[in-house]
Amino acid sequence: TVKSLYEQLHQPRHDSISVDGWIKSIRLLKRIAFLDLQDGTSVNPLRIVVPLANADYVHFLKNLKTGQTLSISNAIWQDTPSREQPFELQIKDPIESIKIIGPVSENYPLQKKFQTLPFLRSLPTLKYKTSYLSAILRLRSFVELQFMHFFQEIHFTKVSPPILTSNDCEGAGELFQVSTNQLSSPSSYFGKPTYLTVSTQLHLEILALSLSRCWTLSPCFRAERSDTPRHLSEFWMLEVEMCFIDSINELTSFVETTMKTVIQSCLDNQKELLPKQFISLKEDDALSTSLDQERQDIITRWQTLASEKWQTITYTQAIEILKKNYNEVPLFKYEPIWGQPLQTEHEKWLAGEYFKSPVFVTDYPRVCKAFYMKQNSTPDNTVACFDLLVPGMGEIIGGSLREDDYDKLCKEMKERGMNKSGELDWYVSLRKEGSAPHGGFGLGFERFISYLYGNHNIRDAIPFHRTAAGSIN
Ligand code: 4AD
Ligand code: MG
Repeated sequence: TVKSLYEQLHQPRHDSISVDGWIKSIRLLKRIAFLDLQDGTSVNPLRIVVPLANADYVHFLKNLKTGQTLSISNAIWQDTPSREQPFELQIKDPIESIKIIGPVSENYPLQKKFQTLPFLRSLPTLKYKTSYLSAILRLRSFVELQFMHFFQEIHFTKVSPPILTSNDCEGAGELFQVSTNQLSSPSSYFGKPTYLTVSTQLHLEILALSLSRCWTLSPCFRAERSDTPRHLSEFWMLEVEMCFIDSINELTSFVETTMKTVIQSCLDNQKELLPKQFISLKEDDALSTSLDQERQDIITRWQTLASEKWQTITYTQAIEILKKNYNEVPLFKYEPIWGQPLQTEHEKWLAGEYFKSPVFVTDYPRVCKAFYMKQNSTPDNTVACFDLLVPGMGEIIGGSLREDDYDKLCKEMKERGMNKSGELDWYVSLRKEGSAPHGGFGLGFERFISYLYGNHNIRDAIPFHRTAAGSIN
């Protein structure tokens, strides 16, 4: 692969090299041609230099087109320490060494010019051939592995909770229904009302009460109508659940350590993760300036994230800060009111403008949050929970301590009109069989990846996005 060639930089090869990939660009000069090949394994393309020794070679090379698939053989390694690329491959006889193994059409859209993201999103089958968007998928793959290593080291078990469920964990009524209780219906799950999970938390709690510490990275589904850059109908959530914690501070410190560890490993591997010529494609126009600056901005953000202390405030403090600014400078469409959820504009402003840092907002009013959250012992009707807000994105994590008292949990569910036919008995019953203080959180994986990458539309962080806008490939 192209990546393995880059990995051999310090022990250049003397044998003849074969490599396959797609033409990223081709440039014919007077005596030589430069062919940049990419195969999706590396942020850097592979430069191949071809002599234009005779008219046949020129003719052959003129017929090569951006996007074509090539199989190259008999190439020779050449160190080029003075060039931007530290090595290149040289070919003697292109007609011998270059085989076209896949065609492109006349109007192949990914020509060498700047494209906008909306344009690339309209090409779901081609968009990850661009270095900007393939890098986000490799970053995602890398980050998944880093979480895996981290949790493994601190004795968390990776579990696989179900996707088909009968419950609405978040109680927001945003369920995609898979089957109804119509036994005769061909799409029925054995005559039981069944949904795609919105969060695996309830099952994770059960597992944590056996394994102490567990985590998962699972698809979650929400039938939200929100057609925004931060909402998907199908997204992936990294969920963590652990026993024997009894303060929200323990949970937020754990989140901070976990995230910082992962971000530090991104920093340690920045060369591999960020294209050398980082082209930040824009939402609105085709312009991209100062390539190096874009890359440097990301690295600086990672460094700041990994080294500075993240902020923590309570929901009540957040409302006070927002109110003050609402009165003095009417910035917001929505008035901040105690007892109502924070709006996205509030979240973005708190993290992006006010703190300019990730911020944990803790202890929301009970009425704003889900039924399972542990009630605080203070008289203000708040629950022991937190949301992690980040600049440019708003909420990326929601978490809480869980109500582990059987009577309190049942009372709360009753007040919310839940569990009328005992469908959640399996969940509450564990509060009687070796209950323990426990808590956890869920990280929206695409939101985190987009935030790290500095591309604030999470549709680019998942191949084949499913959104409220509908379309499916
Ligand atoms: O805040 P949420 O709804 O929390 C839960 O589901 C808890 N049960 C998690 C837990 O404690 N185990 O969702 C968690 C995160 C959000 O902060 C957000 O990042 C992401 O999931 N998320 C979405 N991401 C993309 N598209 C959507 N429609 C999302 N809805 C939530
Ligand atoms: Mg939430």
